[in-house]
Amino acid sequence: MRAHDVKEILIDKTEIAKRVDELVDEIIESGQPDRLVVIGILKGSFMFFADLMRSFYRHDAHPHIDFMTLSSYGAGTQSSGTVEIIHDIRENLVDANVLLVDDILDSGRTLAFSKKLMMERGAKSVHSCVLLDKKTHRAVEFEADYAGFQIDDLFVVGYGLDYDNLYRELPHIAKVNFQ
Ligand code: IMP
Ligand code: MG
Repeated sequence: MRAHDVKEILIDKTEIAKRVDELVDEIIESGQPDRLVVIGILKGSFMFFADLMRSFYRHDAHPHIDFMTLSSYGAGTQSSGTVEIIHDIRENLVDANVLLVDDILDSGRTLAFSKKLMMERGAKSVHSCVLLDKKTHRAVEFEADYAGFQIDDLFVVGYGLDYDNLYRELPHIAKVNFQ
């Protein structure tokens, strides 16, 4: 691991909480499909996912939920280019309307891979929701249907996001400053 600190807060917890509620309002306003299955991509989405679900409750919406652990990074700050399934969902997706939830959309590989996989498994529709979007860093074409914040090409941690599996517990998004 390179020498670094995570003292600089990029997005604080109040801003995140407000944006999470707005995202759920947007999702609900776009129409409540039958058999909605919300799938969290682990580990990065765990905190965002939990807050999104609590916000769904405000609308009396009751989706099925499931999780899938994927790996594309290994230990570092560069995507390895291939996506590996570490732990799969159990939910049957035939005729389901899927909402994929991830922490950040970066190269686009994770979500492009996941969307294709869910469609192949018979989902009727697949939408995606991310907290952060690094728009300028795509390796494959992919746009999220719902995105919380656009950020520059920085490396960030907290609120589920890690550097070498550290800092996921921070309640805010912090910038990793390398020395
Ligand atoms: P993609 O497949 O390149 O779009 O990357 C998605 C995954 O890369 C995310 O789910 C994160 O786990 C990881 N990632 C991308 N950028 C960052 C970052 O700035 N901090 C921490 N993890 C990141
Ligand atoms: Mg990660």
